[in-house]
Amino acid sequence: MSFDVKHLSMRCIKCGSRYSFDPFLYSCPKCGNLLDIEGYDNPDIFRKENSRLPGIWKYHEALPTTAEKPWISLDEGGTPLVKIPGANAWIKFEGSNPTGSFKDRGMAVAINIAKYSGAKIVIAASTGNTASSMAAYASRARLKSLVVVPRRRIAAGKLFQSILHGSFVVEVDDGFDKALRIVQRLLAKWKGVIYSANSLNPVRLEGQKTIAYEIYERLEQAPDYVFVPVGNAGNISAIWKGFKELKEWGYIDKLPVMVGVQAEGSAPLYKTWSAGSMRLIPEEDPETVASAIRIGRPVNWLKALLALRESNGFMLTVSDEEIIEAVVEIARIVGLGVEPSSATSYAAWKKLLQSGSITEKDTVVLIATGHALKDPGFLNYLESRTVSISEFSELDAFIQKLV
Ligand code: F0G
Repeated sequence: MSFDVKHLSMRCIKCGSRYSFDPFLYSCPKCGNLLDIEGYDNPDIFRKENSRLPGIWKYHEALPTTAEKPWISLDEGGTPLVKIPGANAWIKFEGSNPTGSFKDRGMAVAINIAKYSGAKIVIAASTGNTASSMAAYASRARLKSLVVVPRRRIAAGKLFQSILHGSFVVEVDDGFDKALRIVQRLLAKWKGVIYSANSLNPVRLEGQKTIAYEIYERLEQAPDYVFVPVGNAGNISAIWKGFKELKEWGYIDKLPVMVGVQAEGSAPLYKTWSAGSMRLIPEEDPETVASAIRIGRPVNWLKALLALRESNGFMLTVSDEEIIEAVVEIARIVGLGVEPSSATSYAAWKKLLQSGSITEKDTVVLIATGHALKDPGFLNYLESRTVSISEFSELDAFIQKLV
């Protein structure tokens, strides 16, 4: 094994126990809770010499990286920050990553560690995007990959990508939560052979925290609010960690308020946060049009709760109708195509503007997590805009109506 991570340690988020970096350690051996990676020594991540490195690798001193170079990369990160017309708000368009979602940031880092850990297979339970991303990066790294997904309940584009890039696909009858339980059993049994590409692996979240670094680089400050769609609750935790590091390393004084957004029918973290509970209140039968975040037992729930608490943040829910409306509005007013889960952040922001809880003056970044092309089934929610003609005159008449 050859790691450039000897200076890093893993710390339990609950009992605080510390361990040296181990690619196969995903939870605290003492209390079973999740781990965070720490020990970066005030890295100078925005220095000029790094600016020519691709995407997330500009910040490699703040990532767990292998000593072997070149790193396995598909040029992930460096995504657009698109201003919403007439508002002090931006959409961070993660759909422009190589496989079309934010997962590529964390997957790139995880696959490099997987490769040099000596693992033979990488595995992930997924609602689709992790699967697509893992399939592509694993193939690039010449590792076998296995995705475990809910049968017939992931968007067509994501299943297509997983197979296209060469993953083996295991379908389970139940939802994501059961898929993840199966994966966890396999990981325990095949330690050292199978590597986890799920966000319970803190290495994944290290890659995803670069979203915060990029927002800071563009805005030269932290925004007042960051809205994040929440499923397994990894990304909101990762982005918060990124901002906290920026403060610790002296780049920013003020931290953003983190706002987590779930769909009404799939809102375990919203329920837990609303009840002020420090125990997860699961959603037994999650249901929403936003299939990527149809998750009843988010594995990173405690990390996310801590992020909400530390940032004075809060959770919100949006209805399926609001999500559908938001997808269309983002497509037709902003010009970006996002999948339903990604539109929850925009839908929640609009709700808060309407209720007056936040104003047009507040600086807001909405994380749009995945590309519209992932989910062509969304066409069913759109009214037809197709005009069939057999004669030129019919088209001419149609144009007459438009002008
Ligand atoms: N948005 C999209 C498009 C996603 O695919 C996911 C998660 C999320 C938001 C939520 O992020 O889990 O970090 O809270 N998708 C996972 C998957 C679960 O398997 O692709 P999270």
